[in-house]
This record gives sequence, C-alpha cells and structure tokens, in this order.
Amino acid sequence: MEKGIQEFAIDTARKAGALLKDNVGRIGSIEFKGAVDIVTDVDRKSEALIIDAIKKAFPSHGILAEESPELKQDSPFKWIIDPLDGTTNYSHGFPFFCVSIGLEISGEVVFGVVYDPMMDELFTAEKGKGATLNGKKIAVSAIGELGKSLLATGFPYDLRSSADNNLDFFSEFSLRAQAIRRAGSAALDLCYIASGRFDGYWEMKLKPWDVAAGSLIVSESGGKITGFSGGPFSIYGKECLASNSLIHEEMTRILSRR
Ligand code: IPD
Ligand code: CA
Ligand code: CA
Repeated sequence: MEKGIQEFAIDTARKAGALLKDNVGRIGSIEFKGAVDIVTDVDRKSEALIIDAIKKAFPSHGILAEESPELKQDSPFKWIIDPLDGTTNYSHGFPFFCVSIGLEISGEVVFGVVYDPMMDELFTAEKGKGATLNGKKIAVSAIGELGKSLLATGFPYDLRSSADNNLDFFSEFSLRAQAIRRAGSAALDLCYIASGRFDGYWEMKLKPWDVAAGSLIVSESGGKITGFSGGPFSIYGKECLASNSLIHEEMTRILSRR
C-alpha cells in the first residue's frame, strides 16, 4: 500500500485531533440523536475537516462517516471515519476521546489510524505489517487468565429501551475479571487491547466507524477479534470481542450464552 495514502491519513487524523483538543470546553451546540446519544458542533467540524481533505486528495474514493450520509463511489477505496469517538466524554471535559480513520480496499480494512490528542498518542496498523504507537511496534499483553485480567466494555445507546443492553454480561464479568473499565471510546479501547493496557474488551451494537481502524490495530498487534461466540468479526456486525487471544476462549464461554 502506498506510503503517501498512509501519511495522508495520519496527517489528517492529527489535524482533526488538534481541532478537538483546541475546542475542549468550547462546545457551541449539543444535539440529542437519542435519549443519551449526542452530537456536538465539534464532531461536525472535525468530520468536515476530514471529509474535505479526502475529497481534495482522493476525489474518487468513497466515504462512510458517522455524521454524514454515505458518499458512495465506484471505487475499491472507502474511508470509514469517526471524527470524535468519545463524544459523551468530550462534552463533559473527560479527556478520553480520539479520531478514528480506517481505509478499506475492496471491502477489507487495510490501514487504520486512531489519534488521542490529549495523550498525543497515535496508533496505526497496516494489514500484514503490524501495529504501532507513536512509531514503535506494539503487542498485546501476556495475561493468560480472566481472573487476572483488566477488561473494558461499553453500553449501547439504546440501553434504556432494550433488554439486550450488556448489563447482564457486565455483572458476570465483574465477578470473574480482576476489574472492568467503561472508559467511553470504543476505538481507544481497541487500541488499549493492542498495546497491552487492557486484556479483553467486548461490546455490542457498535458501528463500522467505531471499529474499522481499531479492529485492524488489534489483529496486527497479535490480538484476536471475533464475534461473541468466536466466529468471524465484521465491522458491519453487531458483536465485538477483542483480546490478547489468551483469555479469548474464557470470554466466549460467557458471551456465547445469549
Ligand atoms: C461511542 C463510544 C462508546 C461506545 C458507544 C459508541 P461516540 O461512540 O465509542 O465508548 O460505548 O457505543 O457509540 O458516540 O462517542 O462516537
Ligand atoms: Ca464512536
Ligand atoms: Ca463519534
């Protein structure tokens, strides 16, 4: 894959991340998309920056971004963008959020970049070439037991109205793992699996932009990513189970009971 495209994606993620950082505490408007699902003017500004850059650099490429209708093109290239993953955190000034940009070629994610501007941490992965954090190779943890693991998860935005809301799995894993964190950014949760900070992560009802870049970063760091029963993972599917691979089976035993 061309280095130029990767450099473009990294540069664009950094620019969008700088915009997010500059606007912390300066949100102009908040709209509710659902009971607890919000979008701010800063999500939209970050998305406009990224989409404008792609349209200028690669006018023939498709674009799937969270806050805009999909731009379908007759091209094997498709960019999958979350301009601000962790909007709830952002709107409260909780400094855990990021920009996530993935690139699909012919339906396969081949490059991903996730940038956390508050920590100045840039995670990348290229298909078949490994994953990095600020340019250095990363790898998953070596913890082999669920009981010694630090897990991460999140809850779907329909948790008030749907019984399929992860509270059952959350209580079960709370009793089995060393501890669980609900940090509020799926893309960063996946990067934290890739860099060995978390050992396992599961979440349901995610969207392609939450996981396109992060899922490649997990698999390229030696981690495993599947559905809840261990079957193939799809960024367009409803289940995401990512781990250091060692505790994966133990986690599928709980998550396949649905
Ligand atoms: C959300 C975050 C959160 C996850 C939600 C996502 P957003 O994305 O990744 O951690 O639990 O399911 O929708 O709305 O902040 O871009
Ligand atoms: Ca998101
Ligand atoms: Ca978002």
